[in-house]
Amino acid sequence: MADEPAMSVSRRRFLAAGGVAAVSALTACATAEPTAPTSDTACTVAEPVAFFGAHQAGITTPQQQHLRFSAFDLRVDNQRELVELLLAWSALAARLTSGDRPTANPDPARRDTGEAEALAPGRLTITFGFGPGLFESDGEDRLGLADRRPPALRALPTFGADALEPARGDGDLAVQICCDDPQVAFHAFHALSNAARGVAEPRWLQSGFLGARTGRSTPRNLLGFKDGSRNLTPTDATATRRHLWADAVDGAPWMAGGTYLVARRIRTVLDVWDATSTEGQEVTIGRRKQSGAPLTGRREQDVPDFHPTTTNGPVIPADAHIRLAAPEQNAGAQILRRSYNYDDGIDRDTAQVDAGLFFVCFQRNPETQFVAIQRRLAANDALSQHLIHTASAVFACPPGAHPGGYVGQGLFSS
Ligand code: HEM
Repeated sequence: MADEPAMSVSRRRFLAAGGVAAVSALTACATAEPTAPTSDTACTVAEPVAFFGAHQAGITTPQQQHLRFSAFDLRVDNQRELVELLLAWSALAARLTSGDRPTANPDPARRDTGEAEALAPGRLTITFGFGPGLFESDGEDRLGLADRRPPALRALPTFGADALEPARGDGDLAVQICCDDPQVAFHAFHALSNAARGVAEPRWLQSGFLGARTGRSTPRNLLGFKDGSRNLTPTDATATRRHLWADAVDGAPWMAGGTYLVARRIRTVLDVWDATSTEGQEVTIGRRKQSGAPLTGRREQDVPDFHPTTTNGPVIPADAHIRLAAPEQNAGAQILRRSYNYDDGIDRDTAQVDAGLFFVCFQRNPETQFVAIQRRLAANDALSQHLIHTASAVFACPPGAHPGGYVGQGLFSS
């Protein structure tokens, strides 16, 4: 499975072909301290993001512009082949994210497919996750891993108005690919799925995008609102220790430094939303559309105040999205949201565009964080009538790997 081909030329070619011209932009971006996982178009030609490290990349990394998220089903029932796949995937991911792409291997199975030739890595990150089915599937412990399942990794419940399409959700292994260049992101998926042939096969694949913005402004979702204004701050060590990173005391020592990923494909019903007045949209969210300010503030970064009322009731209504999702209403629960917009063409049944938000969030315990928040939203959120949740998945994302090792190594060696 391991594939370390003889010659790697793309990185040299990229540097020779103009990478040097980008060095000043590159240096500026590389030294910028990430403040929030938002995309920064000033950094579209930037230094590669290291694959190896204490935590996996693609979680607190400032958000790239494009997403290719896929889940794979395992087709073998022994740990050895799974470990070989994880070893091969980690070595390949380290090389792809560095911009190194082997083009000259005579073995077609190990030769790079070529579509990212001379393209910069575009801050490519590849994040791996393990689904609940890896530990137990249909009541069977097919891989002998059932007693190592982290207590926090459980299949998500279904919520009130879910309209889940099984073919788009779940999966044994997750591969989150984020990149500023969609072609480089596709290439990474192509290479990783080729490397998995015979061991794991793709189950679903979702693309996503963010608008190209200047500076570090908050991205807008397809409802036209800024999305990510009040999010867990990835550089806040106290907050990430409490809400993001798993700890050995959580019951699975091999997950210490890892986190749990929840993905939801949420279609937005745009014709009904478009027919709603701007004021109606703003009370649904609890923020101003143009500025992103909470209804109780003037600037985007003002902290929402859920107390003020008028004769009509609370200024931020009882069923406003931000009120119901806020930590103040959820026993302090916070999640790191890292979602992308998606557009999957026209739905023939409704003649409407199938577009919305591929919602991704990371947390230390999905049950007390995402699930608790989503229960409230599903029951009361005014935004719900504009949304259809069509896919759902949860994965344990192990801590980062060290050179020579692989993501998830602790699961097999503890
Ligand atoms: C298509 C679906 C969704 C849309 C369009 C959407 C949109 C928004 C918008 C515009 C904001 C305000 C700006 C911000 O603070 O980021 C927001 C805040 C938030 N959303 Fe959503 N959201 C969606 C789904 C969800 C889901 C499924 C969850 C979690 C279960 C969620 C959790 C949150 C949280 C925690 C906040 C911050 C609340 C606060 O502390 O003020 N959202 N969302």
